[in-house]
Amino acid sequence: MTDVIIIDDERTVRESAQQWLELSGLSVRVYSDAKEALAYIDSDFSGVVVSDVKMSGIDGLALQKKIFELDPGIPVVLFTGHGDIAMAVTAIRDGAYDFVEKPFDPERMLEIIKRAMEKRQLVLENRDLRREMQNSRGMESKLIGTSKKMRELKREIANIAPTAANVLISGATGTGKEVVARSIHALSMTGRGPYIALNCAAIPVSMAESELFGHCSGAFTSAQGDRIGKLEAANGGTLFLDEVNSMPLDVQGKLLRALECKEITPLGSNKAKHVEFRLISAMNEDPQEAVRNGKLREDLLFRLNTVELVVPPLRERRDDISMLFSFFMERAAETWDKPVEPLPSESLAVLMGYSWPGNVRELKNIAERYVLSALPPRERIPKLLSSSSEDRGDSAVPLKDQVNLFERNLIKESLLSHKGNIKAVLAELMIPRRTLNEKMSKFNLKRLYKSSRSG
Ligand SMILES: Nc1ncnc2c1ncn2[C@@H]1O[C@H](COP(=O)(O)OP(=O)(O)OP(=O)(O)O)[C@@H](O)[C@H]1O
Ligand SMILES: [Mg+2]
Repeated sequence: MTDVIIIDDERTVRESAQQWLELSGLSVRVYSDAKEALAYIDSDFSGVVVSDVKMSGIDGLALQKKIFELDPGIPVVLFTGHGDIAMAVTAIRDGAYDFVEKPFDPERMLEIIKRAMEKRQLVLENRDLRREMQNSRGMESKLIGTSKKMRELKREIANIAPTAANVLISGATGTGKEVVARSIHALSMTGRGPYIALNCAAIPVSMAESELFGHCSGAFTSAQGDRIGKLEAANGGTLFLDEVNSMPLDVQGKLLRALECKEITPLGSNKAKHVEFRLISAMNEDPQEAVRNGKLREDLLFRLNTVELVVPPLRERRDDISMLFSFFMERAAETWDKPVEPLPSESLAVLMGYSWPGNVRELKNIAERYVLSALPPRERIPKLLSSSSEDRGDSAVPLKDQVNLFERNLIKESLLSHKGNIKAVLAELMIPRRTLNEKMSKFNLKRLYKSSRSG
């Protein structure tokens, strides 16, 4: 294993750098030429590249670019000579880890390289975790969906999971906040530690404090025996506080203090215990709104929301509907040992046009009932949707109208997103111009809309 690759066309520089680093116990390879060095480096390279900026052939900047094409996570440290400052600044902007001025100060060089090595180690560890996560079949931590919004969310999750930052997840009911929380845990440094979930809405107000901090025997009348609180149980792992905006305000204050000093004192005890965990919290309303309504302490919010993730409602990522439905349908068929009845295409259109107030949870219920239904396949979805949610205004709408509505929405969204560019709309929807004209007049659609998306 090589810790450091040194590239410099000046022999004395290469050799003295090599000597210093080897004296510090690092394994070093030296090259006089960037091309040769590149042949050795691949995306699994676990060390640091140190290169001169000015060289004949490939210079330091070009080399850095080539290395980043292999793996942008490989740290590149540059040797700069007198007068190379402008170049070094460009290099840093382009992602160089740091630079060392020549003639170099060995201690400073070593320090920079050691830090860069640590960073590389972290990048590789996180990557391993992520791979492991992708291979693991743990259903709970699998987020299904390939829509643009879902891909963005997954990218955010992959980025923040390996950090220690507290995460606040918001989104409507049934959008998958808990699945997101579990995914973060599974991908995180604390992923091997415990995952402790507490639904703040489900505990009686009088018990909230003891649930969080634990109690000693006799701390209050019904307290029999010592009991560990959730904060302590989560030590070394992740604490998931669901519906945190339902926590009594005075308990929120105590939670805040515990988070600030990383210490808890169980009820009835006078000994504080040190705790360390990743905190993920969730709520199904806008956090700022919860503060305005007096349900969430603002100072606590600032602790919770180092990173804020918003899980979009299902109607804003309709591309995921088909995949989610198939997934839940197949899983249900397997559970109940039922045949998988393929979904008729007009039923899919209805699913795609529906508003999904209960989001993914509602979709999952429909998929399960679809599998269990004794009706002919084509009748199932309209029937199930009409009885699915009470607050749906259009429950009595015939199938044909729902399909029309779906079609109209698709065309309108396409017109909007392409700002009335008919060619682009035709390409996206893959229909001939005449069909588009007919449908636009049938559905009373205009070519151009003002930026407001309603109407
Ligand atoms: N992207 C997804 N992939 C797979 N399953 C999902 C996804 N999103 C949600 N689910 C499933 O849908 C159901 C509801 O998800 P979850 O409990 O995470 O929602 P929630 O946002 O926490 O809702 P609530 O606010 O009501 O607590 C669960 O059964 C979950 O497994
Ligand atoms: Mg939930």
